[in-house]
Amino acid sequence: MGSVSGGRLAAAVSDAGGLGLIGGGYGDVQWMDAEVAVLKSITSRPWGIGLITWSINAAIVEAALRHRPHALMLSFGDPRPYAQAIRRSGCKLICQVQGLPQARLALEAGADLLVAQGTEAGGHGGQRATLPLVPAIVDMAGGVPVIAAGGIADGRGLAAALMLGAQGALIGTRFYASAESLGRESAKERIVAASGEETARTRVFDVVRRYPWPCLYTGRALVNQFMDRWEGLEGALATLPEPRRAAYAAAVRDGDAHTAMVWAGEAVDLIRTVESAGALVAQIGSEAEALLNRVSGYVR
Ligand SMILES: Cc1cc2nc3c(=O)[nH]c(=O)nc-3n(C[C@H](O)[C@H](O)[C@H](O)COP(=O)(O)O)c2cc1C
Repeated sequence: MGSVSGGRLAAAVSDAGGLGLIGGGYGDVQWMDAEVAVLKSITSRPWGIGLITWSINAAIVEAALRHRPHALMLSFGDPRPYAQAIRRSGCKLICQVQGLPQARLALEAGADLLVAQGTEAGGHGGQRATLPLVPAIVDMAGGVPVIAAGGIADGRGLAAALMLGAQGALIGTRFYASAESLGRESAKERIVAASGEETARTRVFDVVRRYPWPCLYTGRALVNQFMDRWEGLEGALATLPEPRRAAYAAAVRDGDAHTAMVWAGEAVDLIRTVESAGALVAQIGSEAEALLNRVSGYVR
């Protein structure tokens, strides 16, 4: 989760037995360096960095690899130009994919792990739903392990993902509303109060920030006043005069959730408290285990 998952959150997840990822997002190397230092001051467990593929270059990948992460996750774009450098450094390559064409590219790149991301996910993603996408990618991946993402926020979702053939889950929104995330308190409060109907996929926040996202991808956010005002008017938003664009940037800085985006997935219904990330990892794991033990009794 770009700029939301910093060193504290990633370390807490890794310390609890997960694989914490620092959200390197668009590739701000200074930010990444600072957050890796935080992580390394807390944990010596395996960890990783996530990057948005269309936004990066070889120098950014090199900067990430200098920190010796155990895994680098590339999402949204062709991973092949970076695959060799990543794997040669001894780092595992994780590719987050939104459909079969992206999965094919990831397999060609020699990915060590695929993340099949359904459209229920918070933040950027594609159109396919998690339930049919995950097994389709498992079938395609041969022996390459797949984990599921999008709409998973508790042990029920993890257990379901395992039944689809995934070997685990990548969870974002649930950890946004954790004590260690860098998210604003106002954003965490909105997530805790929201239902899935209040989320929608949009380009509005990319247009106002002038991020040239490929048209395949939109971002799922909590619907707010700014999104209501500009949805369908992206052409006009793209030519917004500078002072009004600056007003948007100020709202982001001030944590004004009526205007600033809060990326969040459909699973917000399942998030009613802000918890520590370590407790969440333990809780999700033990709930899934109990459910799987219980349902195995149904087939005797
Ligand atoms: C606040 C937020 C920021 C995100 N930023 C990124 C990002 O920078 N790069 C990326 O690959 N995915 C990003 N994602 C998507 C996650 O990688 C993941 O697919 C998603 O959170 C899983 O679905 P869930 O939110 O329902 O758990 C983001 C998600 C959220 C909620």
